[in-house]
Amino acid sequence: MLLLRSLRAALALVVLCPALSRAEAPAPVPDKVSYARDVLPLFQQHCMGCHQPAKAGGSYIMTSREELLKKGDSDEPGVVPGKPDASHVVAQISGKDGKPPAMPKNKPSLTAHEVALISKWIAQGAVDDTPASARVRIDADHPPVYTLPPVLTAVRFSPDGSLSAVSGYHEVLLFKPDGSALVARLIGLSERVQSIAFSPDGKSLAVAGGSPGRFGEIQIWDVAKRRLKLSITATGDTLYGANWSPDGTKIAFGCADNTLRAIEASSGKQVLFQGAHNDWVLDTAFSREALKERKKVVVKPDSGQTALEVGDVTRERVYDELLIGGSDGTPRLYKMHREKKRIIGDDANKVREYEPMPGRLWAVAFSPDGERFAAGSSADGKGEARVYQAGTGQRVCTFEGQKGGVYAVAFRPDGKVVASAGFDGVVRLNDAQTGKLLKEFVGVPVAPPGSSSAKK
Ligand code: HEC
Repeated sequence: MLLLRSLRAALALVVLCPALSRAEAPAPVPDKVSYARDVLPLFQQHCMGCHQPAKAGGSYIMTSREELLKKGDSDEPGVVPGKPDASHVVAQISGKDGKPPAMPKNKPSLTAHEVALISKWIAQGAVDDTPASARVRIDADHPPVYTLPPVLTAVRFSPDGSLSAVSGYHEVLLFKPDGSALVARLIGLSERVQSIAFSPDGKSLAVAGGSPGRFGEIQIWDVAKRRLKLSITATGDTLYGANWSPDGTKIAFGCADNTLRAIEASSGKQVLFQGAHNDWVLDTAFSREALKERKKVVVKPDSGQTALEVGDVTRERVYDELLIGGSDGTPRLYKMHREKKRIIGDDANKVREYEPMPGRLWAVAFSPDGERFAAGSSADGKGEARVYQAGTGQRVCTFEGQKGGVYAVAFRPDGKVVASAGFDGVVRLNDAQTGKLLKEFVGVPVAPPGSSSAKK
């Protein structure tokens, strides 16, 4: 993971690097075009963000063959099997009379090869060859059904403390903060939700996720209206570590192609692309003045690169310091900004190391005042969560009641309670001072196997 802290770093390198892959020479259009292999990935990466049930541009939905065949606002069918020339989709992605294609809206046009694939798929009958087992339809009218609690990867409280948000399969679930009631299900395109972040004013919620090996997605939801405002697809793999800039105008996230990116929250426009990392970027953080300075910060734990490879997490705190955790279980605090001249291989930004946790650290979170932090780990399938005093290094408490590996921790905005979640699908609320287990709840509605809702 990399510490991405830095938009600072980031902005210095705002290199515009749109979709490099599109320049590669394409393979020839196959004799038989496959929807699942050739067409669906194009629709997922370039179209579905704006053409899905939760957000249907032009009243046109592209998430199933049945919907693709329908008409949108223009009253022309999007896809007419066997007739690419009569299909509105083809018209929209092909430029006409020297004009650039209308779709994908405000994005680079599809390549001639991609347009040829889609046209030929339509000419060959627009068949959906996705295996039935993979053709599960999930949207607000067909919510995910759980027969077992899923692994939870993210939990957050809203800034006013009125909601807790938990990652599910294809959705984020909003609960009353103590889990006593499920108040909303924000169901989107991404199968996996890797991270959740409320905007500083609490009005919006950013979600980073995707479908592994197919597309990554950032969703931005209007929390009060429970409505999807934006869905931005990026890369061909899941996205991680979404975080808002302190002024709420930008969202940074990490990618499995080793890049760190940031977008404008209002438009989704990419404002940062930073490719200097040498592994997946699993988390991001903004400094307090993220957008004013442009200095690169290098943070390198002295235990070597392996500690950074998987599962590390970072967070800013009010002091512009970052906490990092990784496979060696040791939380480390770093200054975000270099104060001494850099000597190759030095570790001068390190402020402190803490007592190691058992196993691998997956999650850390500062208390709102930055004085304490919570950390969650897993060792041989067993989880542990603790609170430490950031300034002295003292362990404040170890949480009661942890079972499976802990992958997410979050302080309640009043700093008194910490939520943790992970492998066993249970959200636990512990007293941040004593570690006492106050409450636990399963992070999704679970239907027992064989019940009517489990069968549909
Ligand atoms: C950034 C959002 C966005 C993306 C990405 C996008 N569209 Fe659209 N699309 C829209 C909106 C909004 C409309 C409504 C007309 C308009 O505003 O231009 C629309 C309209 C359409 C229509 C006409 C629907 C009708 O009947 O009026 C088609 C067909 C279409 N898009 C296909 C595509 C395809 C194919 C892709 C991917 C290659 C794509 N769109 C990507 C936003 C988007």
